Amino acid sequence: STTIMSSRPSVYVTRRVPQIGVDILRKTCDISQWESDDPVPRDVLLRNVEGKDALYCLLTEKIDKELLDRAGSKLRAVATMSVGYDHIDVVECSRRNISVGFTPDVLTSATAELTVSLLLATARRLKEGISAVKDGSWGTWKPLWLCGQGLDGATVGIVGLGRIGTAVAKRLQPFGVDKILYNNVIETKSAKEVGAHFVSLDELLKNSDFVLCCCALTDENRGLFNEAAFSKMKKNAIFINTSRGGMVNQDDLFKALSTGQIAGAGLDVTTPEPLPTNHPLLTLDNCVILPHIASATYKSRNAMSELTARNISAALQGQEMPCQVKV
Ligand code: DGY
Repeated sequence: STTIMSSRPSVYVTRRVPQIGVDILRKTCDISQWESDDPVPRDVLLRNVEGKDALYCLLTEKIDKELLDRAGSKLRAVATMSVGYDHIDVVECSRRNISVGFTPDVLTSATAELTVSLLLATARRLKEGISAVKDGSWGTWKPLWLCGQGLDGATVGIVGLGRIGTAVAKRLQPFGVDKILYNNVIETKSAKEVGAHFVSLDELLKNSDFVLCCCALTDENRGLFNEAAFSKMKKNAIFINTSRGGMVNQDDLFKALSTGQIAGAGLDVTTPEPLPTNHPLLTLDNCVILPHIASATYKSRNAMSELTARNISAALQGQEMPCQVKV
């Protein structure tokens, strides 16, 4: 029997993704793909990465030692179609000379826009309003009904003033906010441009009418928004998280929301995802939960797919990725 050996690099794509990325890779690579909108089962993923040159993955795939061992020594690139890479063991990848790619910038506008949408929806109680219209509890115009928190004159605290946090700050200014505070691991150079003031986390929590979580999840900040944090916030505070569910202790958030310690929360991310439909947070009127859709515009998702493919192509040609994680 004869075996025709392909000299084209092989890439495994872990999901159905915007076609533009697949088309780019097809020009130079052999592609195999999990052709579904649901995540590839772990055992199938482990089988399929064996002997691959590159992996195109999503935030649903844990890229750890076990997976890298199974992939074997040909693997040169792991590119995730996301800006977050907390699901990837980047230190282990670097140890094995595997380049890791991610997709910053191309989703910044979409994510900032959704963060503002979620903030407004939560603060102005849109969820309760929409269900009142549907279920008939909208009796008449009532002076004291469905009043919420406005941005005009408010203090906004942003935890993580990076690409997305800065874009959120810019979009909030025209609403007439009084002050923007931020807390970061290091001070942000562009903070002045958006009129944001660096403060300690404690100061931010104590003084903000809106607390926005826009930072990357790390082992150091996991669970940062816990009982201690919520107890420092104002009673009228609205908490918004468009980062990662792991930033929040959800039991503590439930307590804070149900006892009136804070006024409301809007989450685009939860632990786990999807959040079980019987989760206590879903029983609360003052908690708005979205299914991790911050980057979900056609433009942004197409650009993410394209960039992921370009990251892989570059690495396979021995070049630095256009957006490579620096360890
Ligand atoms: C990301 O990119 O990290 C988001 O969570 C999905 O767009």
